[in-house]
Amino acid sequence: MAKITYKDHQGNSKTIDVDNGLSVMEGAVQNEIPGIDADCGGAMACATCHVYVEENWFNKLPKVEEAEIDMIDMALEPKKNSRLSCQIIVSDELNGLVVTTPEKQS
Ligand code: FES
Repeated sequence: MAKITYKDHQGNSKTIDVDNGLSVMEGAVQNEIPGIDADCGGAMACATCHVYVEENWFNKLPKVEEAEIDMIDMALEPKKNSRLSCQIIVSDELNGLVVTTPEKQS
């Protein structure tokens, strides 16, 4: 289990215990975090689960695969620390992870 903090573009945040094996997206959807719609249910086909990962966490995550990069290109306001939250699988090592939803997704 890991504590994941979800922030919106205004700095409002909510920290949630998310079980290992779930994605950061699933943790958000199960807890009704606004701004993460996850229209495709995690199939990497919608980019509505797009988040910005705090800089100090970005390099600790598994590398971004090509298909995810392609989908991030279609997301709203992509940045160099963009990830699809459906592709980040929670483990104990992610305890303390902070992600922020883009302004246009809120
Ligand atoms: S939920 Fe659709 S790409 Fe992540």
